Amino acid sequence: MHTPVQGFSKLTKEEKIDWIAKNCTENETKTKGILKRYWNSDASLQKVHDEFIENTISNYYLPFAIAPNFLINEKLYAIPMAIEESSVVAAASKAAKFWLTKGGFKTTIVGTEKVGQVHFMYNGKKETLFQFFNTIKSQFLNDAGVITQSMEKRGGGVTDIELRDKTEQLCDYYQLHCTFETLDAMGANFINSCLEQFAKTLKEQANLYKGFTADEKEFEIVMSILSNYVPNCIVKAEVSCPIGDLTEGELEGGKFARKIVQAVHIAKSEPFRAVTHNKGIMNGIDSVVLATGNDFRAVEAGIHAYAAKDGTYSSLTHATVDDGIFRFWIEIPLALGTVGGLTSLHPLVKLALEILQKPNAKELMQIVAVAGLAQNFAALRSLVTTGIQKGHMKMHLLNMLNQLGATDEQKKQLVVHFKDNLVSNASVKEALEKIQKD
Ligand code: MEV
Repeated sequence: MHTPVQGFSKLTKEEKIDWIAKNCTENETKTKGILKRYWNSDASLQKVHDEFIENTISNYYLPFAIAPNFLINEKLYAIPMAIEESSVVAAASKAAKFWLTKGGFKTTIVGTEKVGQVHFMYNGKKETLFQFFNTIKSQFLNDAGVITQSMEKRGGGVTDIELRDKTEQLCDYYQLHCTFETLDAMGANFINSCLEQFAKTLKEQANLYKGFTADEKEFEIVMSILSNYVPNCIVKAEVSCPIGDLTEGELEGGKFARKIVQAVHIAKSEPFRAVTHNKGIMNGIDSVVLATGNDFRAVEAGIHAYAAKDGTYSSLTHATVDDGIFRFWIEIPLALGTVGGLTSLHPLVKLALEILQKPNAKELMQIVAVAGLAQNFAALRSLVTTGIQKGHMKMHLLNMLNQLGATDEQKKQLVVHFKDNLVSNASVKEALEKIQKD
């Protein structure tokens, strides 16, 4: 075990690498080699990446891929995805192609409201607090004017400030529950700056308010922070077609549609299945969110909370067959930005947005929701027909062969061989050894 380090953040990048290589790895030279191999040869570009976070010593690559042929509201998109898991991009592309000839995906924005809260503790008279709040409500917006000015010019800003009594949940707990329209920005900085100003106003005005006793003036602001739960910032994406159009080879469309509906109902009624079902949806969502420089942790937290909004964790997608029509849709909260944050700093993020035809935040919400729906369709399609492993292991084959050190020629031969043979660790190893001997 190494001893704690003092002032690590003040060391130069080289010094940080020296320290970590010496204290936390077995082979200093090898460690330094690996870290530096991932540096960008363009020093100014590397500097951009170094400065995104603190204590940067290298870059961590994820594959950046394209799933083409997504028809969304009659417009064709090639969707960039950043993800490490094999099969995800292939599955998305397959689903896109499947729906391309069946009218494509249709989407709707249901709402774009963002949320932030000032949490505080007050143990005085409730009525006095509410009277005080009503008297000073307009002051919140006046005091935050400098922060909100330019957002308001563009049509956004603070949409409401509400005083909420939360004392049933927690003794003395109240909050300012605030809502915002942040247009094409995800809005975290804007919202947090507004909230911190609201907290200041609350305190300042309380000190001046004659209706409070000296004790009541002393309420405590605990914190001011945006919420990543945005149940009114919702996008819907859907596909539909006559069940006959779903027939493929031996598989009759009606039977296939019914199995998909059953699979969705299972995910709606069974949290163990719902979590995996939604994980597959997040494969699509996260990879586009990451590629476009958005905060996938915020998106994940908000979406999973939404999946549990009715009291049990449930499916994010829905499916029906009515009058011979199969309908499959997703409804999710998504707080995304196409301006600010990484969007103008990270060259690949800029490129991803260009590939997506420079969407605004609403358009990006629709594209991301489609990626999630497509991913779920592809997963369920495999699950209720061939099983997931057939396709997954085929996609994973190259990873396995790379791990075993196969040459390009050997990989080519084995990809052909495994078109008709079961892929497993043992069978891949055996087949590779066989052609290596020949
Ligand atoms: C794997 O990453 C995702 C799936 O498990 C999703 C699902 O089961 O629906 C295939």
